Amino acid sequence: MNLRAILVSCALALVLACDKPQSPGTPQSSGAAPTGSANLAKLMKDRNLSEADVTAALKTYTPSGRRDEYLLFASGGHSGQLLVIGVPSMRILKYVAVFTPEPWQGYGVGDKGSQEVLKEGYRHGKPITWGDMHHPALSETKGEYDGEFIFVNDKANPRIAVINLKDFVTEQIVESKLIEADHGGAFVTPNTEYVIETSQYAAPLGGAYADLKEYNEKYRGAMTFWRFDRAKRRIIPEESFAIEFPPYMQDLADSGKLTSDGWAFCNSINTERATGGVLEGNPPLESGASQNDMDYMHIVNWRKAAEVAKTKSKVIAGMRVIPLQVAIDEGLLYFVPEPKSPHGLDVTPDGEDLVVGGKLDTHATVFSFKKIQALIAAKKFEAKDPYGVPILPFAEAIRGQVELGLGPLHTAFDGDGNAYTSLFIETKVAKWNVKELKLVEKISTQYNIGHLVAAEGDTVAPKGKYLVAMNKWALDRFNSVGPLLPQNFQLIDLTGEANGGKMQLLYDLPIGLGEPHNAQIIKADKIKAWDIYKPVGLDAITKEKSPFTVEGGKERVERKGNVVDVYMTAIRSHFTPDVVRVKEGDKVRIHLTNLEQAHDATHGFAVNSYNINASLEPGKHTEIEFTADRPGVFPMYCTEFCSALHLEMAGYFLVEPKKK
Ligand code: CUA
Repeated sequence: MNLRAILVSCALALVLACDKPQSPGTPQSSGAAPTGSANLAKLMKDRNLSEADVTAALKTYTPSGRRDEYLLFASGGHSGQLLVIGVPSMRILKYVAVFTPEPWQGYGVGDKGSQEVLKEGYRHGKPITWGDMHHPALSETKGEYDGEFIFVNDKANPRIAVINLKDFVTEQIVESKLIEADHGGAFVTPNTEYVIETSQYAAPLGGAYADLKEYNEKYRGAMTFWRFDRAKRRIIPEESFAIEFPPYMQDLADSGKLTSDGWAFCNSINTERATGGVLEGNPPLESGASQNDMDYMHIVNWRKAAEVAKTKSKVIAGMRVIPLQVAIDEGLLYFVPEPKSPHGLDVTPDGEDLVVGGKLDTHATVFSFKKIQALIAAKKFEAKDPYGVPILPFAEAIRGQVELGLGPLHTAFDGDGNAYTSLFIETKVAKWNVKELKLVEKISTQYNIGHLVAAEGDTVAPKGKYLVAMNKWALDRFNSVGPLLPQNFQLIDLTGEANGGKMQLLYDLPIGLGEPHNAQIIKADKIKAWDIYKPVGLDAITKEKSPFTVEGGKERVERKGNVVDVYMTAIRSHFTPDVVRVKEGDKVRIHLTNLEQAHDATHGFAVNSYNINASLEPGKHTEIEFTADRPGVFPMYCTEFCSALHLEMAGYFLVEPKKK
């Protein structure tokens, strides 16, 4: 039975059910027929819902207690946090703390482990309290999401974070001192050997100073390959490397897969090398950067580069860098022209084709990896760029172009050979057939779609079914909340069910914490997250039992000189000890273990005036270190409503003043 038939029979069943009074005590599943006089038709009329609206509701509504089939991991933009959203319900499940302090998770708010992770991301030692998260990348095995890790980038302060999906905790942040901004990241290679981070705005490598007059000579871009060690759950900077690029603005990247495994690709804009300077008599950057008809797609042999980096790289700002000339000589880097100011670059699921969105062009251009390889093998270059990088002939490198509409940006794929390209200016999604290069249909989005994401749509095995449009403008979609509007995620059904085979817009989800750029959708059953920390005393960052774990009955306070070690436990509904006495100026180390092993039995631990709030999930051990520099009486209490005696789960932290 198709959805339309189900809808009609549901409506009928509801109408019939409503005619009969229900016997008292009849068990009702949630979402069943209302017991009052309302029936579906009346409800539809009262709420001004069309049949299409009700169909959309049936496709997304998820009764209480039911779980979503997919999880959407979306960047949280300026917030520096990562969103986790259920699909199709579009319920927000979590904001994972990544680049910025997050109070609820106790991230960077007193907890030593997370403070140290945040510190890894300080820029030249300077605290950074925001992020510009753009592109999440789930870890992959053989080109498929494996549900183990997710990596995200910060465009503003070039950083990559590693988040463990066992507990959705950020375990590591690496900061690139080589470049000053990134955009082509995070993207992983098909077995997560490397996490790719590509620069955007050229600058002297390693943070040096050079005037813009020396732009051509001294400014550079780079593609960094951060080595990920899955067993260690960490990026290993010493085993990572980068390739020096000319000073264009490198843009979005993708790594090859299957046929094109071992290669990586990124777009570039501003091959004009405009630097702006409107008050100095130069054209504005954006018009200076839009003069050429073509920019250059960068084609990188990363597998060979990993070998070359061992012997022919030089270390800049702690990173092994393959100089541009070495990359050219060793055949690691090639260019192919791509239509003016491109944006998205997406490799097809079979790894055969590379789809580039034209942005200022109306086409998606489909490059053939095999043709590119044949041209490289035959050394068939049409020219070299000013830095000597060989340029392949455009016409011989493409399989074709497909006219889609105004402002094509990004492309996602389903499992049936279709591609979905966002059209920013036209504010639509264009569905097209990859093999035939033929437009199938378009659907409007509200408004001005940027990235779009289909279920596992950038892997070797896309699932289709759902697509989420990440729109840049909301305008009239929601109640007014002032001049700063939320972003709008729109869920689109790709199945065509109960909609004449066409795409259907199902749901709008306002995002009110920053501008999400990209996202990925994974089958929910691939995520094997823990319910609790086990054994008791596990450290969330190291994923090992903390050497400071406190056992029940062994709570104590130890003083050595002016260092006070407090060995504390939490269990419903008390902290032991619940009174801590120190002296002004003491260094205090609270070793705090939540002894609970019951699902969801989370406590919090706050100390007034000291900016401390730890989240104590069941079994978790937390280290809190601070100097008791302010004398006084400071209530400490549990910040999660854990039990009937939650309010009583409290105590005193007493700091005795120094004797004058
Ligand atoms: Cu423990 Cu509230």
